[in-house]
Amino acid sequence: MSEPQRNIEALLSERRSFPPPQAFRDRAVVRDPAIYETAGADHEAFWAEQAGHLRWSRIWDSVMERDAPWVTWFKGGHLNATVNCLDRHVEAGGGDKVAYLWEGEPGDARTITYGELLEDVCRLANALRSLGVRKGDRVNIYLGMIPELPIAMLACARIGAPHSVVFGGFSAEALRDRINDAEAKVLITADGAWRRGQVVPLKANADDAVRECPSIEHVITVRRCGNEHPFTAGRDHWYHELVAEQPPTCEPEDMEAEDLLYLLYTSGTTGKPKGIVHTTGGYLTQVAATHRMIFDIHDEDVFWCAADCGWVTGHSYIVYGPLANHTTGVMYEGAPDWPDKDRWWSIIEKHRVSILYTAPTAIRAFMRWGTEYPGKHDLSSLRLLGTVGEPINPEAWVWYWTVIGGERCPVVDTWWQTETGAILISPLPGITTLKPGSATIPFPGIAADVVDETGASVPLGGGGYLVLTHPWPAIARTIWGDADRYVETYFRRFGPDVYVAGDGARRDEDGYFWLLGRIDDVMNVAGHRLSTFEIESALVDDAKVAEAAVVSRPDDLKGEAIVAFVTLKTGFEGDGEMLAELREHVTKVIGPIAKPDNIIFTPDLPKTRSGKIMRRLLRDVARGNSLGDVTTLANAEIVELIHDMVETVPTDE
Ligand code: PRX
Repeated sequence: MSEPQRNIEALLSERRSFPPPQAFRDRAVVRDPAIYETAGADHEAFWAEQAGHLRWSRIWDSVMERDAPWVTWFKGGHLNATVNCLDRHVEAGGGDKVAYLWEGEPGDARTITYGELLEDVCRLANALRSLGVRKGDRVNIYLGMIPELPIAMLACARIGAPHSVVFGGFSAEALRDRINDAEAKVLITADGAWRRGQVVPLKANADDAVRECPSIEHVITVRRCGNEHPFTAGRDHWYHELVAEQPPTCEPEDMEAEDLLYLLYTSGTTGKPKGIVHTTGGYLTQVAATHRMIFDIHDEDVFWCAADCGWVTGHSYIVYGPLANHTTGVMYEGAPDWPDKDRWWSIIEKHRVSILYTAPTAIRAFMRWGTEYPGKHDLSSLRLLGTVGEPINPEAWVWYWTVIGGERCPVVDTWWQTETGAILISPLPGITTLKPGSATIPFPGIAADVVDETGASVPLGGGGYLVLTHPWPAIARTIWGDADRYVETYFRRFGPDVYVAGDGARRDEDGYFWLLGRIDDVMNVAGHRLSTFEIESALVDDAKVAEAAVVSRPDDLKGEAIVAFVTLKTGFEGDGEMLAELREHVTKVIGPIAKPDNIIFTPDLPKTRSGKIMRRLLRDVARGNSLGDVTTLANAEIVELIHDMVETVPTDE
């Protein structure tokens, strides 16, 4: 049976469906299913109505203009994202409401109101201006999950300087490449970040990176862990010293709807990460609308999106969406098993969290750890659960619903991407009947389809490519510095009107979408996107490696695990030491998330006549063999298998 077929079989073994509980439905933000028809009949009117929830200093001239694949939303409109996230709430008397309930990993905590957040943002925005940052200049941010991370993002948005956040788990080299691609002027980092009681040396990494970043003029460092690191006079500044001199008000930059809000790098099918470009008006409109309707936001809610701001989920559903909706959010700095495996549940109990949004990988880890950890805590404040980042297996869905949600909380499985900016396929929890494992149906005002190789719509019941057939406000406008790649990646296969997501999907008889994973060379490891080429490049960057091919295999916990086939240069041996060296090397070049789970040393890689590595074949080898949990050594059997296969498949793929 093929992989997609196996997935479908597994999905179909759980046939229960879950209509919204009556109590939930009665109070839901969206109760009338007519919203789908209304929005479907006139997408633009629907999105214009959503944009009307924001504060604009000038109303747009046109809702949507299209020169496919290029699109603008709310052209001519002016607004500032931070005015929408902060000032307007404070001016309306909501300054004392808590914006963030922050929990540090070591046990310290901070509560930040909207009024305080606005002042903190203004001080840093002034500091950035004092360092010469102007509208359009890029600012890189490399921080752990501390309040200064959203503050830094918002300070950039205040003055119209696009931010580019790099996940704190990325290496110095990965940071360097992203800074250089964005040509950032300023880097905001911290001395360190806490992770499982250890200090991740962010500033040391930043120093290594910046050494090869000619565009960086200033580095601002937050004091978090108190660890030692060198200071470069003239370039380096302490965050607390800079902001102490600044007034707590700052004139917001009046931004056009289509002005850049941020860049965020994500993996594509080549070794070079793509700088995804998001603009201001359409993005803010859609993250606010989806956040309010999908997470059913009421004034008293405590919303916890347990992602990292280094990923798009954090941008849209920790920072911009929740703040635009004047929501109280939880932010947690550290690992879920620190000091013990019940850390999340203790946070939920402490802050009476009502909505939890996380990834299937985390849910599967909690399942593995056992029910005793959530069992120790009062989780009765929860009323809604969400998942994102990868397909959720029905077993994990049902565990989440039962053990965490006490069978009373709808589970919204939300499908979207860095490029889509906001959720596109998801239930509306007061309306949609849920089916475990399905992200259900497109959000109002979104048009999705499943098509075959020729681009023809596949009838219900069938599978194919997931595509979006109508523009939406938060779509990435381009790839930074590489418009051709944007067109090539998303709009080549079926023409400029059809966005190709890169995911396989199937629709059932009710029109529900079942996501089947990536259909390109992008892997989804623990909810993180990584390209096979990126890891291959990191491997061949090691002087002892002649060639490398990377594929994935299914993994119970992480969704997909990374398997590397490596051919060493003559004279080097694929032993335990070499294994450790290569894993360390990949960590150094990309970060720990990209470390291969298995490395198979082989004297050869199977290739087509034209010299292309036969990845599909290697995938079969990786999937058909029981590889050890940790990296295994050269395996004579596999090597032989590869040779056999090469001999039996002499033609081009
Ligand atoms: O394959 C899909 C998977 O994650 C990819 C997007 O990854 P990224 O840009 O890192 O954004 C992740 C967070 C939005 C998609 O192409 N994916 C995301 N959500 C789901 C999903 N797969 C199945 N079900 C989901 N709910």
